[in-house]
Amino acid sequence: MRIAMKHKYSKYLNGLGLLFVVWSINFSGLNKHYFSAKPGGDPEERILARVDSVMEMMTLEEKIGQMTLFTSDWDVTGPTIRATYKEDIRAGKVGAIFNAHTAAYNRELQRVAVEETRLGIPLLFGYDVIHGYKTIFPVPLGEAASWDLEAIEKSARVSAVEAAAAGLHWTFAPMVDIARDPRWGRIMEGAGEDTYLGSLIAQARVKGFQGDDLGAVNTVVACAKHYAAYGAALAGRDYSTVDMSERMLREIYLPPFKAALDAGCGTFMTSFNELDGVPATANKFLLDEILRKEWHFPGFVVTDYTSIDEMINHGYAADQRQAAEQALDAGVDMDMQSAAYYNHLEDLVKSGDVQEEQIDQAVQRILRMKFLLGLFDDPYKYSDEARQKRELLSPEHLEASRDVARKSIVLLKNERGTLPLNRDIRKLAVIGPLADNHQDMIGAWSGAGDAKDVTTLLQGLRNVVGQRVVYAMGCEADQDNRDGFAQAINLAQSADAIVLAIGEKAYMSGEAASRSDITLPGPQLELAQRLKETGKPLIIVLMNGRPLAIPWLAEHADAIVETWFLGTQAGPAIADVLFGDYNPSGRLPVTFPRSVGQVPLFYNMKNTGRPMDPNNKYTSKYLDIPNTPLYPFGFGLSYTTFSYGDPRVSRTTMQAKGSITASVEITNTGKLAGTETVQWYIRDLVGSVTRPVRELKHFERVHLQPGESRQVSFEITLNDLKFYDKDLHYKAEPGDFQVFVGPDASTERSVKFTLN
Ligand code: BGC
Repeated sequence: MRIAMKHKYSKYLNGLGLLFVVWSINFSGLNKHYFSAKPGGDPEERILARVDSVMEMMTLEEKIGQMTLFTSDWDVTGPTIRATYKEDIRAGKVGAIFNAHTAAYNRELQRVAVEETRLGIPLLFGYDVIHGYKTIFPVPLGEAASWDLEAIEKSARVSAVEAAAAGLHWTFAPMVDIARDPRWGRIMEGAGEDTYLGSLIAQARVKGFQGDDLGAVNTVVACAKHYAAYGAALAGRDYSTVDMSERMLREIYLPPFKAALDAGCGTFMTSFNELDGVPATANKFLLDEILRKEWHFPGFVVTDYTSIDEMINHGYAADQRQAAEQALDAGVDMDMQSAAYYNHLEDLVKSGDVQEEQIDQAVQRILRMKFLLGLFDDPYKYSDEARQKRELLSPEHLEASRDVARKSIVLLKNERGTLPLNRDIRKLAVIGPLADNHQDMIGAWSGAGDAKDVTTLLQGLRNVVGQRVVYAMGCEADQDNRDGFAQAINLAQSADAIVLAIGEKAYMSGEAASRSDITLPGPQLELAQRLKETGKPLIIVLMNGRPLAIPWLAEHADAIVETWFLGTQAGPAIADVLFGDYNPSGRLPVTFPRSVGQVPLFYNMKNTGRPMDPNNKYTSKYLDIPNTPLYPFGFGLSYTTFSYGDPRVSRTTMQAKGSITASVEITNTGKLAGTETVQWYIRDLVGSVTRPVRELKHFERVHLQPGESRQVSFEITLNDLKFYDKDLHYKAEPGDFQVFVGPDASTERSVKFTLN
């Protein structure tokens, strides 16, 4: 058979009139022949020629195998596991495996595919490397708070280096879903509420994972998920329904996907939700019209976990056979875990309900990716145990994690200079259920990260001031028990300051972790209130995967630092900030509401016909709570202070083909060097459809020494003014605009200009 393969292959290639070399690689004593095109010519054409040459030899069953993705039994990321996945590999009935990792284990699975199947087509190994593989970085929402695209790219780069060293080719990340509802637990996995920031972060993450060359041994192919609008799940309940206007879809939810694609993202994952009555996994509008025809996406589309099957529950398919047909017809190339393609595609082709060309197209996209990754040249190149040992948790990776972690911390409050703490402090009481909890600090969905590798907050502080730190847990975050209060209060009374680590357990955000109440769970708030009564400075270290409603803390704590879940280096990173070795620079990528009753609350809302007026009852507001958030989007303090001058524009009228420059002077008016994130927002005052009260269009992180001033500017072009008009055309309309600049989305500093 192998000789026949070689023969057939050569014939095909000769027919193309191209020159090829054949080489033979020795894998574990078995000779396998792989074919490689000589350098030269169009690389894409070369790859496609190689793909075709493989496809020529494939049976229908083998093709369907390539479209099938099963989980191993190593990790549970969904409801079902197929115990027979190894037999399926051997039978050539599966082309990709997820939740299997480490160089050794994946080498063994790969060996079965390469040596024991008829054609020896290598497997593709996927895994959810969401915020690190072994060295864990902050949860994605936390990392987004850095607003530091370089740091975010670096985090993805390190994650890819480690994942690729552990036998993986493909990460199910980044999650680029815009999320405006903090009840939705998966808000933790994305970049927050804003489309512009989210798009830039999507690109940084794709670049980090994929590097410049998918074929390099230290890159993995990225997967933009969950396509699309999953973050708009009704009532913030995971997997729930989505219904929205096409304008909203295109303007708010799709751009981060397009940005990921523009950065070269190799794969897309469909989402669990339905969109306007059609499940995303069978949504031709999303998959065919937009992704393939408008955007020309060359990669492949995988479903989410059993989402083909779930179309039966959605009430969209009568049975699995129909669901398989619908998914294929819409443009889904690979079936994750439903086994719907596995069970029905062959029969669907035989009955004529599905054309084999549809299958060929999907297989071509999948094999193309395997070629791009270099798997046909060396299927074991990602399974190098020495490399794995060298790369995982390397000192350089730990340092990168600490760096991104401290950049992700947001200082929300700092009364009377409570922070930074003095290193000479006599006694520091560290209290709270999250202060010494390895498992929580690493955050949800932390790859192969091991809680024992985490340096906790308590350890991080002890590394700086040793045994002058005293510790009591006080209570659990998820148990109604106050027995530990007395000891904690006692300890606090004897100390000079209290660091109270509270928030959510890691499992309270992420998939299937929606909450209807976004206040502090358990007796934590009460613990904070009792500690406040001691009169000692109360410093809150928040850990959470979503915005929390914390009005009491905002009013009564002396200082609050938002630390999300920072990963392996959480403790040292928080200590860096608490002791002032790092001046906090993080900014909220998402609005913090005062109460869940305001949800959804996001900065780029519309004005309404009756904008809020405190003196007029009949305006858009609540009787019991202000409209404003507790902390606005973009908010974050520093240990220094910055002042803004009056913004100016280079001209007050802009021509469609030209640009104008808005500028402002920023001064560091405090005593420490620090980084200010200067944010530019634009409002289109009148449109053929109404426009949000402001939209982030540009930002710049500016590092200033004490007393230093700098002129910061933003060149506004037509692109910054475009939107989907009344006919859904993406364009800018002449008229008046207002450009705002400031440290967060609530800024009122603005200047006007007109587009001619
Ligand atoms: C999640 C995806 C994830 C997949 C594989 C699903 O439940 O929604 O985000 O990539 O499982 O683990």
